[in-house]
Amino acid sequence: MSGLAAVLVVLIVALIVLVNNPPSKTVVASQTTGEALIGGPFELVDHEGRAVSNADYADRYKLFYFGFTFCPDVCPMALQIMAAALNELGPDADQIYPLFISVDPERDTVEAMGPYVKQFHDDMIGLTGTPEQIAAVTKAYRVYARKVSDPSSSAAYTMDHSSVFYFMSPDGEYVTHFTHVTDPEKMAQEIRKSMSVE
Ligand code: NI
Repeated sequence: MSGLAAVLVVLIVALIVLVNNPPSKTVVASQTTGEALIGGPFELVDHEGRAVSNADYADRYKLFYFGFTFCPDVCPMALQIMAAALNELGPDADQIYPLFISVDPERDTVEAMGPYVKQFHDDMIGLTGTPEQIAAVTKAYRVYARKVSDPSSSAAYTMDHSSVFYFMSPDGEYVTHFTHVTDPEKMAQEIRKSMSVE
């Protein structure tokens, strides 16, 4: 009984300490950690069938978008924004690799990726891989992607996936991110600003 009472006292003290010393520090710490944890090494296959890794893209900034070629609306819209932002950046875009990474390796073969990315921009690079490679890179970039059955479509399934652009430094550090409804001019401005600060 006294053992239990002691445990209760410890719990109550812990609660009081928590209540009195809570949020700001904790929140800032977790946000910082969250950003730092986005990204990491990867091994994939580019749209020309070459085995590539993060090391192949270490000499420039990177603008990542994760999606799939069968996506009816969100991915095409996002990739148009990406293309428009690259055009807006003009010569500054030469410091950036625009990377489209598949979340649907089953259907996004090397043959499917090349023509798809070139519809949007000549410089865009399509990356796919084995299901294991894609699982690893989506995990590293904290991208949610899940197969959902879609009987209404001839394709039989679609992918639920998070739609976010990541802008990463040459050495692969998280710099910033954009949503798929970002204005291309604003995206270009932000990117130019981050590249001049770094
Ligand atoms: Ni999509």
